[in-house]
Amino acid sequence: MEQSLVILKPDTLQRGLAGQVLSRFENKGLKIVGMKLTRLTRELAEKHYSEHRAKEFFEDVVGYITSGPVILMVLEGPSAITVIRQMLGPTDGRKAPAGTIRGDFGIATRYNLVHASDSPEAALREIALFFRADELLCYDRDVNKWIWQV
Ligand code: CDP
Ligand code: MG
Repeated sequence: MEQSLVILKPDTLQRGLAGQVLSRFENKGLKIVGMKLTRLTRELAEKHYSEHRAKEFFEDVVGYITSGPVILMVLEGPSAITVIRQMLGPTDGRKAPAGTIRGDFGIATRYNLVHASDSPEAALREIALFFRADELLCYDRDVNKWIWQV
């Protein structure tokens, strides 16, 4: 079973959309195995976005992600990494199709509501960056017996 690191970014919380976004993941059948409300330090944010260090938007995206509270989550399910990226849609809200989170709730490239790991390697790295092993819970969610029967 796959796990992905998901961040509800500061715009999601400031706009009061955390519940609606979380509902989409729950309705899809993804299981919350880790969750915390926090405000990222600059150091953690820079580590998280280290692949973008040389890009012209690096300072701006670090400023954005540290600007207010975020919800960090580890979500689990079959092919969770790909499934969640599809639920987010493309980075730019103007290009994200209706039905995706970024397509339905945003119209910007920077303020695009949610981060999700884009590969198994990224998921491992990002989960370890934000969660200790004992902060991830192993439990049965009854509905997954039906939803995960791929
Ligand atoms: O989040 P995603 O993987 O879709 O996009 P990315 O290319 O890895 O960029 C990371 C984040 O940087 C985006 O989600 C945007 O919030 C931000 N970004 C930006 O501020 N300006 C850009 N031109 C591109 C991305
Ligand atoms: Mg990315």
